[in-house]
Amino acid sequence: MSQTPLVITNPQDMRQYSAAARAAGQRVGLVPTMGALHQGHLSLLEYTAQHSGRLVVSIFVNPLQFNQQSDLDNYPRTWERDLELCAGQGTHVVYAPGVGDMYPQGFQTTVSVAQMTQGLCGAYRPGHFDGVTTVVLKLFNAVMPHLAAFGDKDYQQLQVIKRMAADLDLGLEVVGRPTVRESDGLAMSSRNVRLSPAERQQALCLWRGLNRARSLTRAGETQTPALLEAARAEIAATPGTKIEYVEIVDSTTLEPLASLDGHRARMVMAVWVGGTRLIDNMALN
Ligand code: PAF
Repeated sequence: MSQTPLVITNPQDMRQYSAAARAAGQRVGLVPTMGALHQGHLSLLEYTAQHSGRLVVSIFVNPLQFNQQSDLDNYPRTWERDLELCAGQGTHVVYAPGVGDMYPQGFQTTVSVAQMTQGLCGAYRPGHFDGVTTVVLKLFNAVMPHLAAFGDKDYQQLQVIKRMAADLDLGLEVVGRPTVRESDGLAMSSRNVRLSPAERQQALCLWRGLNRARSLTRAGETQTPALLEAARAEIAATPGTKIEYVEIVDSTTLEPLASLDGHRARMVMAVWVGGTRLIDNMALN
């Protein structure tokens, strides 16, 4: 179903819209994004449209979660195309606040999830997750959704947001949806457009590393060091790449695991391919 979405640009109007929708008995669903929409986002839109009566997509490139000004400046912005894609998925509202609407003069409050943000991406991107949880809570407060959907690709982000929602009694459902991949396995990401054709090929080492670990797990390996070594070797053998981290963690707490026994385990990784930082993850058992 295609329809032109209503564009709302400030939190007050957004709250008013959602309050009216809720009062009319509608279930409000939110997909938070930073724009540059791809098939991964569209699968979130599709799921959320199916599970709610009002689909809200937020598009806001959040300066608070970028560690480097150059990354923020170069983040792809494709507003017209994003609007068309939202329309094609039956989006009722695109919530697109400006930076001044989100962080007006004098803004100084942040939300921080303690332990779960220390490791993995958090160790390499100081302040990143505080930026994410702060903006996501503000989006939740403006949109007042019953349901919010996020991709499994940003696995640490998803678990951190679930923790925040539980800890702060937000009373909404946070849903993680499977990573959407290109036909050769590369996880879809707004950052993939930065890869040169050669880097695009090199980037497949993440997928190969994850699969290597999973096939060893299926063959009976349960010890983390062996699984990590196999995945890291697969990536290290690919020229032009640099491992930031490869870890195996408990899939809910994100605590590092010595062995898979008794745990639902997830392999998570961040790898530089040329000048582009890619992340990916996979359930091992
Ligand atoms: O995953 C993203 O695109 C962003 O981190 C999010 C959740 C929209 C917050 O800015």
